[in-house]
Amino acid sequence: MRHLLDIADLGADGIEEVLRLTDSFVEVSARDIPKVPTLRGKTVVSVFFEDSTRTRLSFDTAAKRLGADTMTFTAGSSSLKKGESIRDTVQTIEAMGVHALVVRHASSGVPAQIARWSTSVVINAGDGWHQHPTQALLDCYTIRQRLGSLDGRRVAIVGDIKHSRVARSDVTAFTLLGAEVTLVAPPTLLPPSLEGWPVSVSHHLDDVLGEVDVVYLLRMQRERMTEALVPSLREYTATFGLTTERADRAEAGGALIMHPGPMNRGVEIAAEVADRPNVAVVDQVRNGVPVRMAVLFLMLGSGSETFSSSSSSSSGDRAADGSDEPGDPEPVPVGAGSAVEEGR
Ligand code: CP
Repeated sequence: MRHLLDIADLGADGIEEVLRLTDSFVEVSARDIPKVPTLRGKTVVSVFFEDSTRTRLSFDTAAKRLGADTMTFTAGSSSLKKGESIRDTVQTIEAMGVHALVVRHASSGVPAQIARWSTSVVINAGDGWHQHPTQALLDCYTIRQRLGSLDGRRVAIVGDIKHSRVARSDVTAFTLLGAEVTLVAPPTLLPPSLEGWPVSVSHHLDDVLGEVDVVYLLRMQRERMTEALVPSLREYTATFGLTTERADRAEAGGALIMHPGPMNRGVEIAAEVADRPNVAVVDQVRNGVPVRMAVLFLMLGSGSETFSSSSSSSSGDRAADGSDEPGDPEPVPVGAGSAVEEGR
């Protein structure tokens, strides 16, 4: 697999491989000097056409902790403003000698299109309503860390499913790892068809709250005009928001509360609820760095069967025995090369 565009491309074995390797990078991140030189000589570019805090900063941190050089392209201050096309922009960036493009765009399919033009590894950092694969990976890692396993766990994904790349990615990842997913939303915030989605649906949060292990709240995406799809934000909060009373019930049932961020405090989650101990939002952000280290390592440096890149610039610096270059303080174990079929 040369590019990471869709979480389904990894299959269950590929997700497991990333999660196993993430354990090693959690350990690296806890060191006084949280760095390994595994990707020394590589250059990772954040190519963000849409705003981001978590994804952009954690990819940048992940690349730096692996010893890579980093560059950041921000659309708003670029020559796109002068009419340059996305294709010419990508070719311009690549001409500087780069190995990976981490791409976010408000339109579905742009990372895949860039992958067709590109000689670099392309990682989808969120495209439109379509996919956000590394968010799904860090969400799986966080649930495992908090609850031990996803297998047999019941997860409610609540809110604006229709416009959510996180929901699409998480449904695939969670179900591949054995969880049962219920989508909880008003009909107007669900996709027109759920054919092929391995989920059940409820329009009543109160009905599912006491029965699930994870309540995964989605942001009301004001930039996607979701307010026109509910009578009012106040009514949405009253019906689907994690109010203090609902949070008490979820807490009593031992449920973990998650949210991909950025949160609208007071809309999908009550302001004080967001800081409770059973809310894993900070863990999700924290885990984003080692998860993305694992992804960058597997795609640019490891030679693992699943992730080996055909890019000439990403043949990897690791020796045949899997060790890093001389001077690596502690080689990072590589997954045993799972045989994941492409396109699952
Ligand atoms: N969860 C997420 O993608 O957040 P950012 O938009 O801040 O990257």
